[in-house]
Amino acid sequence: MEFRIKDITLAKEGKNRIEWAEAHMPVLVALRQKYEKTKPLKGIRVAGCLHVTKETGVLVRTLKAAGAELSWCGCNPLSTQDDVAASLAQDEGISIFASRGVTQQEYYDDIHSAMMIEPHVTIDDGADLTVEMHKKNFNSIRGGTEETTTGVIRLRAMQKAGKLMYPIIAVNDAETKHDFDNIYGTGQSALDGIIRATNILISGKNVVVAGYGHVGKGISRRAAGLGANVIVTEVDPIAALKAKMDGYAVTKMEKAAEMGDVFITTTGCKDVIVDKDIAKMKDGAILANAGHFNVEISIPAIEKQTVHQNKINENIMQYVLKNGSRIYLLGEGRLVNLAAAEGHPSEVMDMSFANQFLSIIKLAQQGDTMKPLVYDIDRSQDQEIALAKLQSMSIEIDSLTPPQKTYLEGFNEGT
Ligand code: ADE
Repeated sequence: MEFRIKDITLAKEGKNRIEWAEAHMPVLVALRQKYEKTKPLKGIRVAGCLHVTKETGVLVRTLKAAGAELSWCGCNPLSTQDDVAASLAQDEGISIFASRGVTQQEYYDDIHSAMMIEPHVTIDDGADLTVEMHKKNFNSIRGGTEETTTGVIRLRAMQKAGKLMYPIIAVNDAETKHDFDNIYGTGQSALDGIIRATNILISGKNVVVAGYGHVGKGISRRAAGLGANVIVTEVDPIAALKAKMDGYAVTKMEKAAEMGDVFITTTGCKDVIVDKDIAKMKDGAILANAGHFNVEISIPAIEKQTVHQNKINENIMQYVLKNGSRIYLLGEGRLVNLAAAEGHPSEVMDMSFANQFLSIIKLAQQGDTMKPLVYDIDRSQDQEIALAKLQSMSIEIDSLTPPQKTYLEGFNEGT
């Protein structure tokens, strides 16, 4: 076992925090109890490239209990929780290569180190590991999973170009993932990151949310709940209309730029806030990103207009612009919920990682017979996870009677 982490002495704190997360992840823990007996991943090498958080710690422990041999790296230079990395190395004996604040070079070195295991299955968040895997040619590989919207978009593009070499299960596209993790998880944790970094009062602020997908929807709802005036920008007419009907102001970024006190990008695309927008911003504007990569807010555009730069705290950089305005960038324009807070709460990661865990077992068992395509989660898996989550909350629901089933399946009976 090899590892590259920041500080092994943090292991005790990491272990305690993983256990805290575990107490809020009943679905994943129930799966662990079920599969630790049969060990379906015995002899299977799994390489993971996922934010190293306390919730990921619970997933790693679960994979290990099911028999997997593991290597791990972070999927974002600023998201690793160093205490968790230390515990996974010391207490779980995982080969882990991750620390908070790595350079671009170290980031890719860590991915390459995690690949050394020659995995049968990869777990990815953003597709960086999968792309690097495609530059090698490991005979071992049976398949991989992808956790996030941005990664699924990249992998579908690879499939379309005929470049995808092994099957991928799009965990992100499970309803029990994106309808909860992306909406409630990012909705809460992005605001949490902004508040932890700045301690500003959200109430009464003009909060501009760029993008009204699942993430934008969740953030808008939480910001409005805290008393913000939410202004949404969009490129998709249907999403823009939904935002309007949900009660938010909708306009173009060039107009929103003049109004916003806080800007949060959620689009998954680059160049969402550029030179002309930055030049129009109010003195004191705060900029944060909740999309996967740090390309949504153009940092080169900010730097071009900057005369002076000042670090306010670990997560706030002040830029004094040529026009005299001061603007504030949070978490270097990287995922604010992970850079400045702890990522999504354990309760939603419970379902996301239950989907990951079952998908990995499926790939270990059937990956060799699957085509190199991006696959959706089986509906039955989604339903099983939702039911288990409801049960963990002591919630019972109705089921269809046989006549109701017949009614829904037929077309003769109308009234
Ligand atoms: N992505 C967003 N939040 C996360 C978390 N808490 N753990 C792992 N991946 C995440």
